[in-house]
Amino acid sequence: MGKENKTIGLLYNGGRVDLDLKEPSVGPDVVDLKNFSAQTGLYTFDPSYSSTASCESYITYVDGTAGVLSYRGYPIEQLAQESTYLEVSYLLYHGELPTRDQLDVFRLKVKQNMLLEESVIKLFDTFPENAHPMSMLITSVASLSSIYHHDINVREPEDREAFFFQVLGKVPILAATILNHINKKTVGSYDEKLNYSANILNLFFGGVPNFEVNPVFSKALDVLLILHADHEQNCSTSSVRLAGSSGTNPYAAMAAGIAALWGPLHGGANEAVVRMFNEIKSKDRISHFIEKAKDKNDPFRLMGFGHRVYKNYDPRAAFIRETCHEVLDELGQDNNPMLELALALEEIALHDQYFIDRNLYPNVDFYSGIIYQALGLPKEMFTVMFALARVVGWATHWCEMMANPGLRIGRPRQLYLGPKKRNYIPLDQR
Ligand SMILES: CC(C)(COP(=O)(O)OP(=O)(O)OC[C@H]1O[C@@H](n2cnc3c(N)ncnc32)[C@H](O)[C@@H]1OP(=O)(O)O)[C@@H](O)C(=O)NCCC(=O)NCCS
Repeated sequence: MGKENKTIGLLYNGGRVDLDLKEPSVGPDVVDLKNFSAQTGLYTFDPSYSSTASCESYITYVDGTAGVLSYRGYPIEQLAQESTYLEVSYLLYHGELPTRDQLDVFRLKVKQNMLLEESVIKLFDTFPENAHPMSMLITSVASLSSIYHHDINVREPEDREAFFFQVLGKVPILAATILNHINKKTVGSYDEKLNYSANILNLFFGGVPNFEVNPVFSKALDVLLILHADHEQNCSTSSVRLAGSSGTNPYAAMAAGIAALWGPLHGGANEAVVRMFNEIKSKDRISHFIEKAKDKNDPFRLMGFGHRVYKNYDPRAAFIRETCHEVLDELGQDNNPMLELALALEEIALHDQYFIDRNLYPNVDFYSGIIYQALGLPKEMFTVMFALARVVGWATHWCEMMANPGLRIGRPRQLYLGPKKRNYIPLDQR
């Protein structure tokens, strides 16, 4: 391998192909395969993209071995401790931390978009009683494309920025409408005195007289939103990018991302974790479920454990566990049975050879559901909360991609294993 020349040589068919190595600002070099097929007539096979960098990006960096996550170079620990979700949103979108004035303008633009059109509100009347909140979120975000389409030019920076602020403003209102639809209650209103996260809680629960946002809860929510804001080219972000690469309406592309997030292997894990805790019920049953998780003939997996990229502790999980304690302390529930079960399960799994050998640690979803539950949210809303936080990541990635003049439609190839050419047999001869 000629790293000094920034190429890698591939011996094939008696010849040699030199492939360029691209150098990232941090992390391992990347083999440039853009012209590989044209050069060799071959395709590469990487069905779940374990070895594939699908794009260039300047937004978020993850080092799964070292347990590092940073947004625009700033470590997640510093941001979670010292920043706010809205400031982090500014950082993700603009690439730099804002001055106070810049943050005020940003906040105002988000606020101006915190309203829903009548046709979207009416949509909620059409959902069945037991519709899953994620289904309602996908549908309602997609429905925004029925309002915002004709005037959007995805190649115009102003139109992209308008989309960014629309989703940052509208998704909290959609989430509040979904929660109050299932709870059959009234959505609260925006309060100028409150920050973004406190306003979300006010929209969720403030439709009754004398509701006051608990600052410990809004701080906990803000930390959760920061930790979930972006995570480079994960399944949902890649879905937004792939759908968006065709030039489709951005709300439609975002709905594709939300759909991908819903799955239990991705954002849906936070709901699945609490279902799992409910199924395990008590500490004495943990070992039975650990055995099930290790049994290859049993589809059961330890939800909230393992990660495609993190092969060390997920840096977000440690923070969320801390935040969990703070929220439960505030509620006077320091002996919360679900947290006790979670801590015991983590302890047992971390000392089990199966989990040690495979580097399986708690991920971002392991403790978050306990917090959401303590905040008063039903488990079906947990993945909506993830989406609410990730909106900024999806929108920023979409904007970054659409701003690239060299953008081409995403179009993978395949390893075809179907029948070779054969001749059609008319129906009466089969
Ligand atoms: C996150 C996840 C999808 C990553 O998947 P992946 O990168 O494709 O990892 P793999 O499925 O190849 O797992 C590697 C090995 O660990 C095992 N493993 C991974 N996660 C596991 C879990 N949660 N419980 C039990 N075994 C697990 C796999 O069975 C596999 O074992 P093997 O090598 O003996 O075949 C996977 O860890 C998982 O399903 N976790 C639970 C769901 C979850 O919490 N998702 C949220 C992610 S933030």
